[in-house]
Amino acid sequence: MKILVVGGGGREHTLVWKISQSPLVDKIYCAPGNPGIAELAECVHIGADEIDALLDFSLAEKIDLTVVGPEVPLTMGIVDTFQAAGLEIFGPDKAAAQIEGSKKFSKDLMARYNIPTAAYQSFSDHGQAVAYIRKQGAPIVVKADGLAAGKGVIVAMTEEQAIAAVDDIMLDQVFGDAGASVVIEEFMDGEEASFFAFTDGKNILPLASSQDHKRVNDGDEGPNTGGMGAYSPAPVVTDELYQIIVDTVVKPTIKGMAADGCPYSGILYVGLMIKDGKPRVVEYNARFGDPEAQPLLMRMKSDIVPVLQACARGELQQDSIDWYDKAAVCVVLASGGYPAAYEKGLPISGLDEAAEIEDLMVFHAGTALKDGQIVNQGGRVLGVTGLGDTVREAIDKAYAGVKVIHWDNVHYRHDIGARALNR
Ligand code: AMP
Ligand code: GLY
Repeated sequence: MKILVVGGGGREHTLVWKISQSPLVDKIYCAPGNPGIAELAECVHIGADEIDALLDFSLAEKIDLTVVGPEVPLTMGIVDTFQAAGLEIFGPDKAAAQIEGSKKFSKDLMARYNIPTAAYQSFSDHGQAVAYIRKQGAPIVVKADGLAAGKGVIVAMTEEQAIAAVDDIMLDQVFGDAGASVVIEEFMDGEEASFFAFTDGKNILPLASSQDHKRVNDGDEGPNTGGMGAYSPAPVVTDELYQIIVDTVVKPTIKGMAADGCPYSGILYVGLMIKDGKPRVVEYNARFGDPEAQPLLMRMKSDIVPVLQACARGELQQDSIDWYDKAAVCVVLASGGYPAAYEKGLPISGLDEAAEIEDLMVFHAGTALKDGQIVNQGGRVLGVTGLGDTVREAIDKAYAGVKVIHWDNVHYRHDIGARALNR
């Protein structure tokens, strides 16, 4: 069969890599892809949000299955467009993608179905939002309702910070329309974990546990990023907690969406806060995590293609995934300066040497090809992912890869996986 993967980051390189191992697949295309993906798939020059062009391409090439990586095309309705044209596509439709696209939608869903989360209220009036913050006090969390490229959440330690955030979002509209309304919620403390489940809208197939490192610097210091590293399994998610998450979060979410006439299919990403062995939902995403996909898919033994196809068809029967009994750790190499401004176009060395290392994959995220040379092009550039019998071995493997790769001003964390070791 012919598969099209939409996107061009580390998550999509990982998906393409995993899909390429399936005996069911004859040809993989990726739009727009990246230089790492180009080694496994034919990259086509269509942006991930150019839905009409992607549809024309898929019809012309007779694509059997399209797999969508990022959230933006999902919230724009790529799934609705493809399905209307009779094409199979993996991911939630536009209505269901609101679970990530609107904080208010997801908070209301959780309230309706008693899914554990932080107490909240939503506001479209600036004065009322400020009054609520004054009444609740700090710490408190302010969230722009819509998609804000991961920057729309402000964890405010003082009332003044929270009010400044409401001013930025609602008055100065720093996130544009995404800030027409805000959700203000209780601050939760605890340890974060990521939980993923494949679903066809009715049945679920949960993945192994994982955790990412969101802050840019060692010791969880500095600003939030898309993720500076990740690992799987996550020891904080014990077998008992895993079952609690499935029963109290994942199942009621999928059941609730279906009951609301808005069935969710694809992969559901639940961001959790764990405290005293109990999970509460921080957020939902309508897609795979990046970089959580890197360690998760390196550990996945089962063929992913039948699962993607079954979800797209609404026929998910499989009830378990085979995993390699190993740990995987992904260290993200970023451009120095990220998540703020950074220099682009710097030549990257050591990729050939890293490719020689066994049980190591270097997934490309923000790379480009310039005069035959791989250069940095985005904030997060590479996801160096190692597999090992233990977390310690996987960490050592990933950092052995990191050691041989270099460019000017490369930045990475030195403590990826440390939290898992400490347990
Ligand atoms: P989000 O964009 O919803 O993933 O939020 C970004 C980050 O903000 C999360 O990964 C958490 O670290 C933090 N966060 C969001 N909501 C809360 C909350 N209610 N309490 C504490 N931290 C939060
Ligand atoms: N790793 C966080 C995310 O994918 O949103």
